[in-house]
Amino acid sequence: MNLLLLNGPNLNLLGQREPDIYGYETLADIEATTQAHAEARGAALTALQTNHEGEMIDRIHAARGTVDAIIINPAAWSHTSIALLDALNAFEGRVVEVHLSNIHRREAFRHHSYISARADAVLAGMGAYGYLAAVDWLMR
Ligand code: DQA
Repeated sequence: MNLLLLNGPNLNLLGQREPDIYGYETLADIEATTQAHAEARGAALTALQTNHEGEMIDRIHAARGTVDAIIINPAAWSHTSIALLDALNAFEGRVVEVHLSNIHRREAFRHHSYISARADAVLAGMGAYGYLAAVDWLMR
């Protein structure tokens, strides 16, 4: 299994950005932990964080035919990006959408995610553990 971990805008600031909401773990910690978790279960995992929507779309296109499943925290693009939804619709593997916070308990504009229309599973509110749970579900 080849897994791709994608994190969207502002998630490079994890650990410093609103830690009461997003926790104190850095993105580097989360990527390393998720990669180790995947490898322990026999999967390879590569990770990308980007603040540029087109870069994320290009990476999803490149994943077609080479990646088995995408674990994605689309961050604010969840609530805005039909382009990201369309890119994921062109990807044939499984998609797990992860949010560190429970978006349904927050502002109304976070309650709708365009990505959920494509996701095979959605995890929200588990903090960084959500990424590990996504790996476990994919590798079950
Ligand atoms: C987030 C929730 C989004 O609403 C927000 O824009 C983020 C992070 C989360 O992980 O909880 O940047 O996706």
